[in-house]
Amino acid sequence: MTYKVGVFVGSISKESINRKLSEALIRMSPEGLRLVEIPIVDLPFYNHDLDANFPPEAKAFKEAIAEVDALLFVTPEYNRSIPGVLKNAIDWGSRPWGSNSFAKKPSGVIGASPGRIGTAVGQQHLRSILSFVNSPELAHPEAYIQYHDGLITDDGQVTDEATAKFLRNWLSALEVFIGKVVGAEQGS
Ligand code: FNR
Repeated sequence: MTYKVGVFVGSISKESINRKLSEALIRMSPEGLRLVEIPIVDLPFYNHDLDANFPPEAKAFKEAIAEVDALLFVTPEYNRSIPGVLKNAIDWGSRPWGSNSFAKKPSGVIGASPGRIGTAVGQQHLRSILSFVNSPELAHPEAYIQYHDGLITDDGQVTDEATAKFLRNWLSALEVFIGKVVGAEQGS
């Protein structure tokens, strides 16, 4: 069984360290997971005036989520929360009312920061949002990556073996968790 996992990168910076982290995760993902990015950069600002007539970018975004079994959020922490671009994307996906794209989709959360707490506070905000949109979240292990120059190359090679091992183990835990949630859904 291979699960398709939609990856959201919470930074739209070309130099994003979280994009490097997402590239690394894509490179090292186990056979049971197929990671594909779901881009958020083209989404306009969410506006509920458009709920009856979603713009094409938002329709495509929701269709992309519908096609995956699970979700992976790779995000920076901005001012001890998540970047507005990511919250905007989640708001689009959660609407219109009654058509929440995230419901029952298992998710994992990870992030990189040069700071010592490695996005821990931002991730807590994201977990709160994911609870509300009814996405079961991998609780453990938590994944707070403190980034330093050269830790991950532009094409996603992790240069530190301890970090590479941690990421591989984390992806394995995510795979097991996705299997449990999807299995439980199929059995219900
Ligand atoms: C930051 N940064 C940051 N870092 C952190 O650990 N906690 C924080 O609350 C913040 N807040 C914050 C706000 C804003 C507006 C910016 C631009 C930056 C620093 C941040 O971790 C760093 O710029 C990362 O490189 C951002 O991730 P990406 O965009 O490189 O993936």
